[in-house]
Amino acid sequence: MDILAIETSCDETGLALLRASGTAAAPKFSVRESAIASQIKIHQPFGGVVPNLAKREHLKNLPILLAKLRKKAKKLDPDLITVTVGPGLEPALWTGIVFAKELAKEYKKPLVGANHLEGHLYSFLLSADLSPAMRRRLFPAIALIVSGGHTVLLEMESFTKWKRLGETRDDAAGEAYDKVARLLELPYPGGPEIERLAKKGNPHAVEFPRPMIHDKNYDFSFSGLKTAVLYYLRDHEGAIATPEGKADLAASFQAAVLDVLAAKTIRAAQAFGARSVLLSGGVASNRALRGRLKKEAAKIGCAFYAPEFEYNMDNGAMIGVAGYMAHLRKKHYSLKAQGTLDI
Ligand code: KG4
Ligand code: ZN
Repeated sequence: MDILAIETSCDETGLALLRASGTAAAPKFSVRESAIASQIKIHQPFGGVVPNLAKREHLKNLPILLAKLRKKAKKLDPDLITVTVGPGLEPALWTGIVFAKELAKEYKKPLVGANHLEGHLYSFLLSADLSPAMRRRLFPAIALIVSGGHTVLLEMESFTKWKRLGETRDDAAGEAYDKVARLLELPYPGGPEIERLAKKGNPHAVEFPRPMIHDKNYDFSFSGLKTAVLYYLRDHEGAIATPEGKADLAASFQAAVLDVLAAKTIRAAQAFGARSVLLSGGVASNRALRGRLKKEAAKIGCAFYAPEFEYNMDNGAMIGVAGYMAHLRKKHYSLKAQGTLDI
């Protein structure tokens, strides 16, 4: 079936037309068309996403992207429409939901709500051509979702059955990147900036704390790490006055984040006898994190999957996958903005 998917939970407006087939145990997807409007430049002067500005931009971008999609796809004739209902910024979510309701009326097609985190979780399916043999070696899986708003670790029994093992108790990993980037006087979003600088720096220059790394649970905490960077800067005047100093701090901060994410994910994979490790969310764009998890997963005999780079950050295609799976599972999310929707 052809699915028209809409994503407006944060600062990217995403629309996609997706072809989906197969069962919930063996789903298959191909992206026919995808259009994204990024709002990074709009929010950059504020150092983070401003909800009402995001709403205004989504309202402006949605019809433009739809026209683009209609033009590219020649004939837009979806069988199902799906839209992110949460988690995210409620004013932003509403714009997508209202727009999707109008489209469902226009096309006289069913509308299903999609969970943004499930979109991230499934996003590797947009590019992984899983053979039956690979599918047999997928579960149990440990999935790490790391974005600007979430850091969640799941134990998955199948594509549709999972248990939350842990999550962040304060800041999400992406949020920590963004906040530390601000301390280092780098532009928003901070993740790509810190990653770029970290390549040039010494990860052992400053030994920052690895919060909760030895705790027996699977929760995370990143706000103390951010504070440690803040105190370091307060106590070491001129620490970021040189490009080398800045790069060393970026590398040292990133080393601490990666150590914690990798340690907990791999420990969970061992404890639950996982056959694979799945990484997703905006922070999954980080090549150092991908490389580290891939290597450590291989050491314990686990396969490793992460989405293609274009599907790490928020996009419409991943919402198409989540919508299709919700449709197969007959999971009826209420068509209302749900800022704190869980996975
Ligand atoms: O998933 P996403 O696009 O939006 C949310 O659902 O939150 O994730 C955005 C987050 C931002 O915090 C951004 O700094 C982070 O992903 N990010 C990265 C990288 N690219 C984006 N973090 C670390 N390294 C990167 N290369
Ligand atoms: Zn996201």
